[in-house]
Amino acid sequence: MYSGKARAYTNIALIKYWGKENQELIIPMNNSLSLTLDAFYTETNVTFSEDTSEDLFYLDNQLQDSKATLKVSRFLDLVRAKAGSSLHAVVKSQNFVPTAAGLASSASGLAALAGAASAALNLQLSSEELSRLARRGSGSACRSIYGGFAEWQKGDSDETSYAVNIPSDSFEDELSMIFVVVNDAQKDISSRDGMQRTVETSAFYDGWLQTVPQDLAKARKAITDKDFTALGEVTEASALKMHGTTLAATPPFTYWSAESMKAMNLIRQIRTSGLPCYFTMDAGPNVKILVERKNEEALLNALKDQFDPQQLVVAHAGPAIEVLSEEEA
Ligand code: DP6
Repeated sequence: MYSGKARAYTNIALIKYWGKENQELIIPMNNSLSLTLDAFYTETNVTFSEDTSEDLFYLDNQLQDSKATLKVSRFLDLVRAKAGSSLHAVVKSQNFVPTAAGLASSASGLAALAGAASAALNLQLSSEELSRLARRGSGSACRSIYGGFAEWQKGDSDETSYAVNIPSDSFEDELSMIFVVVNDAQKDISSRDGMQRTVETSAFYDGWLQTVPQDLAKARKAITDKDFTALGEVTEASALKMHGTTLAATPPFTYWSAESMKAMNLIRQIRTSGLPCYFTMDAGPNVKILVERKNEEALLNALKDQFDPQQLVVAHAGPAIEVLSEEEA
């Protein structure tokens, strides 16, 4: 019996990952840059043993169906291949999210699975190797290996595509991210499907790719300079550009709902009134707001006029993945 355990925190991209050069290996079209958060995380235990003749996957204590289990199994196949093992595993994951509002994240989930499974089979991976492995489960998961800021360097092969930590002299501790959980979600298009459709069909996709390098340079400089305004401006611009590409896809689509627009407009108004804050969005209608921690309370008060307190979730910078080996698990 070989067991491993990991806890990984989710991350939100400030400069987005949007599009794959290689779908099987999950090599992205562009670098991305993220902030790991403390408020959402996944804890996963993996036990490989001869006692089970198939992989079993429990999420929040519920045994999952064959579709969800197949995804986990495919990922475990990569770990088994690296370790030279043919044992099946029981995987038990818990998602820790502050509300039941559907904020579960594939980034924390796949990072925790990578950490726990590789520890169970004693692969002794470096952060870089663990990032590469997590990437194979879900691209954004490769950034959740690190606390604070991380950049996924796209590379051009399995060996060269992984995330690294961005030194920041603790700038991340000056930041907060407030989630506005909106309730009028439309039909889901997964990030995987949405980005692929965009790469293949969007008239705006080339424009997206052309501007990412300068946005990344601005974000890196803003982190070095601890310049909140510069970081906020480029964060919002990157999100708007990414979402712009979906409107020019065939068929066109958007992740924005009426409530998302309401939140974005309110954030612009609050900013104009003198409180610096900037939004970002991912492959869903929720809006995330970057604000200086010293202004977190003031922003929450301003948001409470228009949104229910239960729709607002506060997060701060989170730590790196924690992996426990067999003996400690
Ligand atoms: C919009 O990492 O979920 O959140 O690699 O196909 O699993 P796959 O996609 P995923 O995509 C995340 C897209 C995004 C932007 C980002 O996190 O950078």
